[in-house]
Amino acid sequence: MSEATQIVAIDGPAGAGKSTVARRVAQQLGFAFLDTGAMYRAATWRALKHAVDLDDPQTLAASTEAMNLVIEETPEGQRVLVDDEDVTQAIRTPEVTRLIFKLDQNSAVRRTLVELQRRFGERQPTVAEGRDIGTVVFPKAKCKIYLDASLECRTRRRADDLEKAGRPVDLDRLRDEIHERDEKSRNRADSPLRRADDALLVDTSDLSIDQVVTTLERLARERL
Ligand code: DC
Repeated sequence: MSEATQIVAIDGPAGAGKSTVARRVAQQLGFAFLDTGAMYRAATWRALKHAVDLDDPQTLAASTEAMNLVIEETPEGQRVLVDDEDVTQAIRTPEVTRLIFKLDQNSAVRRTLVELQRRFGERQPTVAEGRDIGTVVFPKAKCKIYLDASLECRTRRRADDLEKAGRPVDLDRLRDEIHERDEKSRNRADSPLRRADDALLVDTSDLSIDQVVTTLERLARERL
């Protein structure tokens, strides 16, 4: 099988359900799962840890290049290690989430992470999810899916996750933050979030996770 036949590329905005769904589709297909958002989060966490000036593009790029990143899927869930330190929880804090745009707009940072992502996909059949998977990382993927959902629905889902994690939620603020992140992802110069011309649109607003997983698994089997 060539590289192009072994990739399921899933893109979409925050809160469309990409990670949960992509992980389960990967399990169903027996493919590896690649959470590229976790990579941008890890790079951001490392820059904060080393007190890198987030407005200095060269130092940010060097910090990302120097990062020793390990992402493992374990029976207990995903485990993320940066330079041998377990940062699984730390990369999900609001501070990291708020500051990722400083790195995800940086072309040198993106080049480093995209290279790692391509190498991962070349090694094994992969379900990869992010913002630029079908457009930039694996443009030849045979199965591309763009997952979307209304802003209201994505806000509700994110609020549920935060509540489950015991974090306080201000719905209006959360909605504004998600909207702002959408705008930043869609309007950045390098690799903006957009649906690839050959990606199938799946609106998850009125679907359960099981329904989305079943739909994507069927699409993947048809196309690969
Ligand atoms: O999916 P997530 O919320 O974990 O992603 C975190 C951030 O990383 C998101 O705000 C945009 C960025 N990102 C990106 O620019 N390109 C990707 N392929 C994945 C994520």
